This record gives sequence, structure tokens and C-alpha cells, in this order.
Amino acid sequence: MQRNLLIVYHSQSGRAETMARAVADGARDPLVENVDIRFLRAASAGPDDLLWAHGLLLGTPENFGYMSGAMKDFFDRTFYPVEGRIQSLPYALFVSAGNDGSGAARAVQRIANGYPLKEVQAPIIARGDVTQAVIAQCRELGLTLAAGLEAGVY
Ligand SMILES: Cc1cc2nc3c(=O)[nH]c(=O)nc-3n(C[C@H](O)[C@H](O)[C@H](O)COP(=O)(O)O)c2cc1C
Repeated sequence: MQRNLLIVYHSQSGRAETMARAVADGARDPLVENVDIRFLRAASAGPDDLLWAHGLLLGTPENFGYMSGAMKDFFDRTFYPVEGRIQSLPYALFVSAGNDGSGAARAVQRIANGYPLKEVQAPIIARGDVTQAVIAQCRELGLTLAAGLEAGVY
């Protein structure tokens, strides 16, 4: 089944971007043949991208106990234009934080419920530098979502 996967992230100092690139690497695994990927910074993503997508991966730093302003802006700009036009889009989240990350995850999860997006895997929350272990987790997340979309399991 041909499926579309949208990856939307924001990153200020590069950690969430490193995670996003690992997620995209995983989603591009040669095992997955029928999934097209859009890889966009939050500021460049809009309602048409959400309407195109069959699955969504979101990445944000935690700023002041919340998602980044750019990720919030993505939600602000897209909520009404897609309201009633997407049905339970499968999604998963990755967060880069200094020492916490739970506030950003909670905030995204609460907003995501309203779209509605359906969380298909618990968020990856990375604290501090992005380690090889985090990169491996992110790759696996990308592969899991892409393979799941292709197989029609969501
Ligand atoms: C303005 C600002 C606010 C932050 N607030 C938090 C916070 O509330 N909790 C936390 O764990 N880290 C916080 N951090 C640290 C970042 O989440 C962390 O450095 C993250 O890895 C940055 O991701 P990035 O490199 O993708 O921008 C904050 C950083 C900045 C710049």
C-alpha cells in the first residue's frame, strides 16, 4: 500500500534535528518500499502537509516546560484548516530536553488528541546530548512507523 509519512520538527541548537534525521533515516530503510517521506521544519509545514500524510512524526525541544514556540505555531496554523478532514492520523513524538521533557510531551499529546492524532508509540524523550542509543531509538521509531503504515497496521 502506498503511504505518506510526514516528519515535522523544530530545533534551535541541533539536538532535535539530529533526532529527526535519525527518524528519517529509519523511515527510509530499504525494507520499506512504498512510503514517501516529507521532512520539514515546523515553520515550513502547513495544513496541506497534514492532509497529504497518512502518518506523522513530530519532534521538538522542551522550552520552558512546553513544546517549542515553532511547534506550537505549527499547531496554531493547522488546527482549523484540517479540522474534520483528518481521521485519527497515527503519530509519534520525540523530544529533546535538557533534563526533563515531560511538559513538552504532555502538551503535544493533549493538543494531538484534538486533531485527532492517534499516538502509536510512547514518546522518545532524550535528555542532554543525543547519544548513539538515542539515535538508534529514533531510527527504530522511523522504521516502525513507516513499516506499520506500509503494512496498514494503524
Ligand atoms: C529557552 C529555553 C528553554 C528551555 N527550557 C527547558 C525546560 O523547560 N526543560 C528542559 O528539560 N530543558 C529546557 N531547555 C533545554 C533544551 O530543551 C535542550 O537544550 C534541548 O536539547 C534543545 O534542543 P535543540 O538543540 O533541538 O534546540 C531549554 C532551552 C532553551 C533555549
